[in-house]
Amino acid sequence: MPAQPALKDKHLVVGLSGGVACYKSAELVRELTRAGATVQVVMTEAATQFITPVTMQALSGRTVALSQWDSSQPNNMAHINLSRDADAIVVAPASADFIAKLAQGRADELLSLLCLARPSLTCPLLVAPAMNREMWAHPATQRNVAQVRADGATVLGPAAGDQACGEVGDGRMLEATELCDELIAFFQPKRLAGRTVLVTAGPTFEAIDPVRGITNHSSGKMGFAIARAAAEAGAKVTLVAGPVHLPTPRGVQRIDVQSAQQMLDVVLPLAGLHEVFVATAAVADWRPASITEHKIKKDGSGRPPALALVENPDILATVARLPEDQRPWCVGFAAESHDVVQHARAKLLRKGVPLIVGNIGPATFGRDDNTLVLVDAAGEQELPPGDKLDLARLLVAEIERRMSSLTLRSPEA
Ligand code: C5P
Repeated sequence: MPAQPALKDKHLVVGLSGGVACYKSAELVRELTRAGATVQVVMTEAATQFITPVTMQALSGRTVALSQWDSSQPNNMAHINLSRDADAIVVAPASADFIAKLAQGRADELLSLLCLARPSLTCPLLVAPAMNREMWAHPATQRNVAQVRADGATVLGPAAGDQACGEVGDGRMLEATELCDELIAFFQPKRLAGRTVLVTAGPTFEAIDPVRGITNHSSGKMGFAIARAAAEAGAKVTLVAGPVHLPTPRGVQRIDVQSAQQMLDVVLPLAGLHEVFVATAAVADWRPASITEHKIKKDGSGRPPALALVENPDILATVARLPEDQRPWCVGFAAESHDVVQHARAKLLRKGVPLIVGNIGPATFGRDDNTLVLVDAAGEQELPPGDKLDLARLLVAEIERRMSSLTLRSPEA
C-alpha cells in the first residue's frame, strides 16, 4: 500500500533567490508535488540568472511569479494574493543578500515583499540558506540569520560539504529530498515535543567466525519509521540499529551495533535518559557460545562442526525490569507467523511492558507496508493496514495518548 501523500492539501510558495543552488530547487518542487503539495514558485531577478522560469513553471504547473508589478492580477497585488492561501513560504535557496533583506524587513521586489506581507500566524516562513562558507560565517550573515530566527522563521540547514566555488565548508543548501522531509516534519503535529525516545531496530548479527554469523531478515524499516515519526513529532530520538542499509532519519541520533550483547550494552546506559523505549529490533535469540578466531574450514570428514549456542539477553525485558526511576515507558514488538494477538498478549505479561505491537513477521520483513495490532491491558486495537511510516505516525499518536494520562518521569530524575 503506497504511503499517504504527506503534503496532501498543502499549498506552498517556493521562493528562489539568486544562487547556484537554484538547480536543486527544480528537484525540490518535484519532490513537494510528489508528496502531494501544490506549489507556486516565486523568483527574484537574480534567481532567473541561474534557472529559467520556464523550467520552474513546467515543474510546478503554474505560471511563475516574477514581479510585484504584475498587471494580470486583477487587484495588482501579487504580494498579498500569493500568501493568503499558502500554508507556508519556503525560500530555497535563500542567499546571504536575501537573508539580509528579510532581517531588515526590506520589500523592494516581489519575494521579499511577499515574505513581509504574509500573515505570519497562518503562513510560516522557512528559509534554506545557500552561500559560500565565508559568506555564511561572516558576522553580518550570522547576525541576520539570528534576527530572522528571532522574527519567527525556521532556518533549514545549511549543510557542510563541497561548494560550487571549489571550497569546502558550511553553507551548502540541503538536498531536495532533505528539504522535502523537513517540510513534511514541519507540518506533523508536535505530540512528543520535548520528549526523549529510544528505539532499537533491525536484526542483530551473531558472529560464528570472522566471516560468518547468525542473523535474520529484519530490514529495520519499521523501527526507522518509528524513529522518524517520533522525531517529526518533536521528540529527541536515539536509534540503536543493527546491521541495515537504511539512511538515518533527519534529526535522529543513530548508534550502529552488530550483536545483541552490543545492543544491550548501548541501550542500558541510555534507557534511564529516555522517557519512551520502543524495541523493534529482531534480536537473535541465541548466539554461538564462542567465536573462533579464524574461519572454520571443512576438515574433509563430511561432518559439520558442532555449533553450541547460548541464549542472548532479552533487551526489552531487561529495560522493563529497571528500577522505576530509571525505567522508560516500554513498547515491544511481536513478529509472529500466526495467532498474533495471543502471542502478543503472552509477551506483554512475560516482558512486563505496558504495550506490545503485534504483526505478521514473514509478511512484513523488508516490505514498506505492514499491519499492526496494539495489545495492552485494556484490550486489542487494530490499526488500518498501511505504509510503515503512516503506521509509525499512528503509533506515535497512540503512545502519546497512553502516556498523557501518566505523569512522566523527568529524564534528570
Ligand atoms: O522475545 P521476542 O522476540 O518474542 O519478543 C519481541 C520483542 O522483544 C521485540 O520488541 C524485541 O525488540 C524484543 N527483544 C529484545 N531482546 C531480545 C529479544 C527480543 O529486546 N533478546
